[in-house]
Amino acid sequence: MNLKLKIWRQQDAKSAGKMVDYNISDVSPDMSFLEMLDVLNESLIEKGEEPVEFDHDCREGICGSCSLQINGEPHGPDRGVTTCQLHMRRFKDGDTIYIEPFRAKAFPVIKDLIVDRSAFDRIQQAGGYISVNTSGHTVDANAIPIEKHDADRAFDAATCIGCGACVAACKNASAMLFTSAKVSQFALLPQGQVEATDRVLNMVKQMDLEGFGNCTNTGACEVECPKGISLENIARMNREYLRASLSPAD
Ligand code: SF4
Ligand code: FES
Repeated sequence: MNLKLKIWRQQDAKSAGKMVDYNISDVSPDMSFLEMLDVLNESLIEKGEEPVEFDHDCREGICGSCSLQINGEPHGPDRGVTTCQLHMRRFKDGDTIYIEPFRAKAFPVIKDLIVDRSAFDRIQQAGGYISVNTSGHTVDANAIPIEKHDADRAFDAATCIGCGACVAACKNASAMLFTSAKVSQFALLPQGQVEATDRVLNMVKQMDLEGFGNCTNTGACEVECPKGISLENIARMNREYLRASLSPAD
């Protein structure tokens, strides 16, 4: 396949960026999207030009590093997959493909297609954990009976890989799907109850401090989420937040 790529190039967070055109030929339909970018970068390096910077690590849909806005959609046209799992057979010979970074005020561009998603880390650090005594008296988690439905929903919430596609998909750049998944994975389990009140209050506070917008109720985040994180998590976080606001911890 021969393709025309329109790629966002930006030197750093302070510089203005712009779309730059590249032509790429002999792309195999079996290549992943990131392998196609690898081929482009090899050709740029051979010509003495700067390669296009983009995030990646596992390349198997686990780590949440890859983060491209492809033809206006986070992680591209497929559903339930990350950019690294997208294959070139999804495109046709002669196509023009627009490749941009995830756009949100809280995700400043570091370079080209790489954005700084450390805001997610700070939300997680504000409460996305449980305090367990690991000094030798730890209770085996499997010794605590948990109703299967709750265990399954907690597991589903825990599959969030923190990629940020939900933010990029939202016209308000809301991080509610991400934050609610991180709240829910503990709210559904007995181990998460000790810090439950502080957790939801602190994580929502940090989410707002980072500059993410409020939920638009359009559901775009759920549609674009590669892990199928459900909007029901946002409803659960709102209930947890209301309960915590009415009975704050000491
Ligand atoms: S909720 Fe989905 S889209 Fe958002 S960070 Fe988690 S895995 Fe990515
Ligand atoms: S590179 Fe790890 S999820 Fe895509």
